Amino acid sequence: MKSLAELAKIRDEAKNKIDLRGKKNTRIVVGMATCGIAAGARPVLLALVEEIKKRNLNDVEVVQTGCIGVCVLEPIVEVYNETGEKVTYIEMTPEKARKVIADHIVNGKVVSEYTIGAKKA
Ligand code: FES
Repeated sequence: MKSLAELAKIRDEAKNKIDLRGKKNTRIVVGMATCGIAAGARPVLLALVEEIKKRNLNDVEVVQTGCIGVCVLEPIVEVYNETGEKVTYIEMTPEKARKVIADHIVNGKVVSEYTIGAKKA
């Protein structure tokens, strides 16, 4: 049985971890369902992670998700900014992923030709 003080310490440590995670300004979500992987999402994810590491972008996190819902447009990468606004990139490749990091994440310029909006047009 843990004492109250020990429990409080565990709670505070967990809270600090959450706060640290909360400090990430940009969140990049990669669809890694079967169709995403089949379409090449793994090398895309790897390219994103490598590029972020290379550029020391400490406030950017990359996470995996399952089905995003549009198999035919995979690999899909969603970029959420600090206010929760989302840009959806489709039919991604490692090269496109590196450009998204350079243009969108670093320079704040959405690569509109890779977005889902460009496909519909
Ligand atoms: S199974 Fe392909 S997007 Fe969901």
